[in-house]
Amino acid sequence: MPKTVKTASRLQGVSPSGLREFFEIGSKLAAKGVDVISLGIGDLDLPLPPFLGDAIADAFATGQTHYSSNAGIVELRQAIADRYQETYNLEYSADEVLVTCGALEGLLDTMLALINPGDRVLVQDPAFGYFANQAKLAGAEVELIPMTSSFDLDIDKFRIAFEQKPPKMVIINSPCNPTGSIASTQSVKAIVELASDYDSILISDECYEFLRFDGSPHTCAGTFDRDNVIIVNSFSKALAMTGLRLGYVIAPVNLMRPIYQVHQYNTACAPTPIQVGAMKTLSNPRAFKGIIEQHRNVLNDRRKVALESIKPIKGFTFTYEPMAGFYLFPNVEKTGMSGPEFAISLLEEKGVIVVPGDQFGVAYPNNIRISIGSAPPNRIREAAARITEFVKK
Ligand SMILES: Cc1ncc(COP(=O)(O)O)c(C=O)c1O
Repeated sequence: MPKTVKTASRLQGVSPSGLREFFEIGSKLAAKGVDVISLGIGDLDLPLPPFLGDAIADAFATGQTHYSSNAGIVELRQAIADRYQETYNLEYSADEVLVTCGALEGLLDTMLALINPGDRVLVQDPAFGYFANQAKLAGAEVELIPMTSSFDLDIDKFRIAFEQKPPKMVIINSPCNPTGSIASTQSVKAIVELASDYDSILISDECYEFLRFDGSPHTCAGTFDRDNVIIVNSFSKALAMTGLRLGYVIAPVNLMRPIYQVHQYNTACAPTPIQVGAMKTLSNPRAFKGIIEQHRNVLNDRRKVALESIKPIKGFTFTYEPMAGFYLFPNVEKTGMSGPEFAISLLEEKGVIVVPGDQFGVAYPNNIRISIGSAPPNRIREAAARITEFVKK
């Protein structure tokens, strides 16, 4: 082992995930016999949908367990492109779709392909922590742009940041992790237009596209400028298959070329049987829609239970209505604690895992993220009862 490890300078400024700390405390408590409730992880705890499971099993049984085409099997890329055509009237060729090992690989490939050291990247705040840290890994100078109090994109703040110095790239995410909010169509359109006007590339992470409960259609950023928007998406959340690692990037061919080049040297391909399973599911609209609807109903029931039992808790302030994904993001300042103080004490005293707002940026340190992805209604109610006790003390 070398005496001194000289860490690569690209890791400077990249923060280790603080989430692990919570899961470690949680595991230690569970090992001591504490009944820990996790409202921490962004993962839908339902079993693999049978149609998808059967399709994957069939791929194994028929020997489809070897390398696939590096960009992903063409039938899956075509099925994804067809879906964008049918849903958003957006025309992409199969070559403008890259299948990746989860959205995370797609995001990192995109940033490594397009960001130079010192490039300026704007990221909404709060946001999934990978955005800023992956951009930093690629050498970016990241500026976080606070969202509005109702967790919409704040176009005025973005405009000021563009005017100060046009960024190389902007990263947005709607529906949003950690808030469960949905950006308004007009704000998505405005940010796409700003990026186009200033010749900045826009990345739109749309991983929660299918998990929205307001009944209105999803706004796909690509519809406002398909030639300047990179869409990152995933099968993880909608199909409850986070561990199977399948996502995709959609980009116009001139942006896709460098992204694909990074992907080529990053991985041989996304797991072939999982690609086959996703392709068969996506190509069967009845099966696909049925799975999505079932997952959406389960989550919406949980969301209603969470709003009934968690929203009224003394000291919690909701400045918006969580409408998508797995998440609620209340402000807890009125309990007299910051987000991290609240999350750590709640875990130690009541065995409930939530994630402090400082894990998602700097603008909302007094908020906490509550995930209903891995807690059925009775556990959400039990967690609400424990939190109510906790804030009383
Ligand atoms: C906004 C967002 N993007 C991407 C991901 C990662 O998706 P995948 O499992 O496809 O890598 C997550 C997971 O929490 C997420 O919340």
